[in-house]
Amino acid sequence: MKKIVIEGGAKLQGSINISGSKNSSLPILAATLLIDEKIILNNVPNVKDILTMVSLLETLGKKIKIKNNTLEITSTNKPSYFAKYELVKTMRAGILVIGPLLAKFNMAKVSLPGGCAIGARPVDIHLDFLSKIGYENKVVKGYVVSKKKFSKNKISFFFKKISVGATETAILSSCLSSKEVKLINIAIEPEVIDLINFLNRSGTNIKFIAKRSLIIKGVKNLRGLKYQIMPDRIEAGTYMVASAITNSPLILKNISVVHLKNIINIFKKIGLNIKILSDRSLKVLPGRLKSIRIKTVPYPGFPTDMQAQLMSLLIFAKGISEIKEDIFENRFLHVLELQRMGAKIEIKNNKAKIIGIDYLSGAQVMATDLRASVCLVLAGLVAHGKTEINRIYHLERGYENLVKKLKNCGAKIKIINVR
Ligand code: EPZ
Repeated sequence: MKKIVIEGGAKLQGSINISGSKNSSLPILAATLLIDEKIILNNVPNVKDILTMVSLLETLGKKIKIKNNTLEITSTNKPSYFAKYELVKTMRAGILVIGPLLAKFNMAKVSLPGGCAIGARPVDIHLDFLSKIGYENKVVKGYVVSKKKFSKNKISFFFKKISVGATETAILSSCLSSKEVKLINIAIEPEVIDLINFLNRSGTNIKFIAKRSLIIKGVKNLRGLKYQIMPDRIEAGTYMVASAITNSPLILKNISVVHLKNIINIFKKIGLNIKILSDRSLKVLPGRLKSIRIKTVPYPGFPTDMQAQLMSLLIFAKGISEIKEDIFENRFLHVLELQRMGAKIEIKNNKAKIIGIDYLSGAQVMATDLRASVCLVLAGLVAHGKTEINRIYHLERGYENLVKKLKNCGAKIKIINVR
């Protein structure tokens, strides 16, 4: 087992290069199942979830060469439509292969991803859509077994709830077909737009007809292509907090400022001075932190994936702040760990009240999910004394070279192996 050890109090300086987006890479990797020709993906982050998705695609008939952050994907002559539990259980995005498998084979057997720390995370909306476009879906021994029942050429589907994954499944299952599919009330996160751009570049015809509605005109086949994954906006937001919480100016590079507008606005509201250097870089200049009341909502609102990181920062904001977690039912697991470090946080249903204090004390803490883990790293950077974070495999799922990036900016942080 490994753990992270941080000596709090070090100032940061310099700049951090942001990696490609995990949550854009995963659906785009699933989309490669639709394309037989060679695909080159650049700027793919080297994180555990990507390696898991690569292993899954290799069991489904893909051959994938990884060179640094570039993936070369070709097809073998051994395709399969069976996505096994062992690979899907650790990475919820495994469910995203069901759409492409059905589009290619008219059948699929995909392990249910199972819940995770932040909530049950059902896939009912994914399956509602697949039923609507003609597939019969049964859950048999933990697997979704789907097969074609009927075909409709013109379909319109309204999402009862805005869902990133279900929107991606709807797009992935419709673009290689003779169907015309209208989707209404879709998620419009930048990662969904990146998937749409990738598919349109490959030959699909996906057009927006309103802010949250689009029409997909399916095509017979898709061309191979070279594609650059968008920068990871949540990684960028995370390091903006690292700069603010340690009261140190930091420059972020290789970002997409346009995707960060909502996050930048909130940080300005709590007193940070964010200087836009170009559309690919910005500088965070710390300021006196002010309390705020905020809730997590679908894009373009404040993202749930930044909730834990913002909470660690609001611990030091003067006054009382409030965060309402409106997306997941159990995404406050980091609170218990922050309280062990001395944070004054009260939870009532899906609301967290954060009372501003002057300092945290380092402690032994435990990571529970990807973003809760990074929030403990952020708190450890500024806590008095030593913080030890256990179960850091959560972090390795979604942050490329996190310890190295922080160490290069002056943080006293290291990974140690424990028996
Ligand atoms: C994606 O998860 C992201 N993961 C999550 O990031 C992110 O937090 C989430 O979108 C919201 O932005 C990837 O892109 C790989 P949803 P997803 O479907 O697609 C409910 C991270 O830290 N729901 O938008 O699973 C669901 O339970 C991860 O990088 C249903 O009820 O999220 C949740 O309450 C964590 N039925 C809400 O909708 C469904 O069929 C939003 O979930 C699907 C979802």
